[in-house]
Amino acid sequence: MALFGKNKSGSNSDLNIPVHVGIIMDGNGRWAKKRGLPRKIGHRQGAQNFRTITKYAKQVGIKYLTFYAFSTENWRRPQEEVDALMDLFEKYLDEVKDFIEENIRIRFIGDRTKLRPSLQDKMLDVEQTSKDFDSMTLLLAINYGGRDEICHSCRTLAQLVKDGKLEPEDITMDMIEQNLYTQEVPPVDLVIRPSGEQRLSNFMIWQSAYAEFYYSNILWPDFKKDDLDKAIVAYNDRNRRFGGV
Ligand code: FPP
Repeated sequence: MALFGKNKSGSNSDLNIPVHVGIIMDGNGRWAKKRGLPRKIGHRQGAQNFRTITKYAKQVGIKYLTFYAFSTENWRRPQEEVDALMDLFEKYLDEVKDFIEENIRIRFIGDRTKLRPSLQDKMLDVEQTSKDFDSMTLLLAINYGGRDEICHSCRTLAQLVKDGKLEPEDITMDMIEQNLYTQEVPPVDLVIRPSGEQRLSNFMIWQSAYAEFYYSNILWPDFKKDDLDKAIVAYNDRNRRFGGV
């Protein structure tokens, strides 16, 4: 389909582009298995695709793009696979030059205190380097869980109550939201999950409360620019009512 960047003006004015898109990169393991390859090769292929789709999303005009890269539950995977994923994250953080050149801001969400120190250092470094970039914000969810994030926010507020700085009855939804990892990030408009699974798996459960969902049977490493186009076209056919009529 390749809808985007093809018309003369280079704009997509007839389409409503979701401001914030979340992507659950599912199906790397099955992609590798189908080819008789180790799972980590599937993740490597998935990481390459992450890079391609990120650049394309910027071209399309998406302003916030979040990828679910490693969940709080993914530690249950074999150690070898966990190590391979952490190595992959580090490798990509060493090679983000092209994102930097594209003026893309990079942020991380999740509990980073459980990650290896060398990875934490690189995350901080990339966040610092890109903090004023404004073509698109890329959020990488690493050791992220929606329930864990809400718990983290509640703990912060509970401490304020304990310190006598806040009354329990004054706690608002805004306060909970402001203490999530996604401060200053708008709610998710569209969640894309390839590979045939149709569940949220603890991904941005607060921020996706009114998100539209797009599922596809394609495995993440095979998910192409055209598939992102299709997701955006499907999003344009939805009637978002946010609880109204
Ligand atoms: C889920 O597929 C995928 C993951 C848990 C890892 C996703 C991470 C990457 C693609 C690497 C991204 C790298 C960067 C730098 C962001 P699965 O393994 O559960 O697939 P399966 O369901 O087919 O087994």
